[in-house]
Amino acid sequence: MDKLAIVGGRRLAGEITVSGAKNAALPILCSSLLTADPVDLDNVPNLQDVRTTLKLLGQMGVRTEYADGRVHLDASKVDNLVAPYELVKTMRASILVLGPLVARFGEAKVSLPGGCAIGARPVDQHIKGLQAMGAEINIEHGFIEARAKRLKGARIITDMITVTGTENLLMAAVLADGETVIENAAREPEVGDLATLLVQMGAKIEGIGTDRLVIQGVERLSGAYHKVIPDRIEAGTFLCAVAAAGGDVVLRRVRPRILDAVIDKLREAGVSIEEGDDWMRVRMEARPRAVNVRTSEYPAFPTDMQAQFMALNAIADGTSQVVETIFENRFMHVQELNRLGANVTIDGNTALVNGVGKLSGAKVMATDLRASASLVIAGLVAEGETLIDRIYHLDRGYDRMEAKLTAVGAEVRRIKGSAA
Ligand code: EPU
Repeated sequence: MDKLAIVGGRRLAGEITVSGAKNAALPILCSSLLTADPVDLDNVPNLQDVRTTLKLLGQMGVRTEYADGRVHLDASKVDNLVAPYELVKTMRASILVLGPLVARFGEAKVSLPGGCAIGARPVDQHIKGLQAMGAEINIEHGFIEARAKRLKGARIITDMITVTGTENLLMAAVLADGETVIENAAREPEVGDLATLLVQMGAKIEGIGTDRLVIQGVERLSGAYHKVIPDRIEAGTFLCAVAAAGGDVVLRRVRPRILDAVIDKLREAGVSIEEGDDWMRVRMEARPRAVNVRTSEYPAFPTDMQAQFMALNAIADGTSQVVETIFENRFMHVQELNRLGANVTIDGNTALVNGVGKLSGAKVMATDLRASASLVIAGLVAEGETLIDRIYHLDRGYDRMEAKLTAVGAEVRRIKGSAA
């Protein structure tokens, strides 16, 4: 398993180009199952989760070609409607094939994802929504088996806001017979990006970007070209890195408008941020001030930035509270940050962070994707060397992070390890 070795204390300066959004790319790749025509994508990040999705689609019979952020998908000859446990267990987002498969082929068999490092994460809302659209669902031998001659439009009110749940039901509804209304829909920009592509393919969707999506099903969809939106979490991670390590960095190919809640919090911490349409300049020369953070659904502060802010608060001046309201177990980075000298205690879904004057490098272990990012940020600040083990978590969701950090002056080195 690869490790990252980081020598802290370097100021960051220069430019970083942000990649396409992982959480937009994954549902968008799965949406190619909805049409027999080719779908061409651009700005697809080079990530393990993208490779896993291409493998999943490939074994269903989708022809996939990937080069330089461009993906060509051809789902004209799909011959296998099964998402096996071996792939689903490595990537929960595999559940995103369920909606498109039932909608276009009338059946699907997808392994139940089970729990994961950040919480139980059930998929009951995906299932409930498909049942409301007339799908017959059986859960047997660890698989969700869904069948429907043709899905029917329905009014669906999800019990909670769910991002991939909204995406799955949206992809199912575009080919259903009649009108579907999804109430309490997730408003995350990644859902909007998927919807934008679906409209290009011929889907009829109103309310994009709102919590009420109204879909008029169509008989068939055609191919399309789409450029994936920038990754707001990758951008936010680099903003936090500069805020913590100090420096002056310009981020290119970003969309600052979808990062408002994160930018507000960074400004509260004393960070200087200038923004244009597709760039941001972040400057920080002082010790950050501690800021309270509470995660919530978009447009509020994202859970996917919680761990990175915890690293920032760990070295900030003052005490802060970080409240996690989306996932019940998303504090696994805390023990590792404490190994680096942070002073964080947890009480239920709240972490109390007492800012310390310095962190010191140590061996730590990445436990999930955003936890890994928080350890990288802490490592950039810590005195001496921090060695982060299990960075395959980082590779799932960050496109060449160490190269991008090295280019702005960080001392980061990948140590190749043998297979796990
Ligand atoms: N939930 C249910 N039942 C459901 C669906 C969700 O109880 O049927 C619960 C979850 O357990 C959780 C909450 O609802 O407590 C919200 O979960 P959601 O379904 O929104 O999460 P997700 O769709 O599985 C996506 C992102 C996550 C991100 C969350 C929240 C993708 C591929 N994943 O997950 O991204 O944290 O939304 O914004 O889009 C990451 O990138 O590091 C990551 C984990």
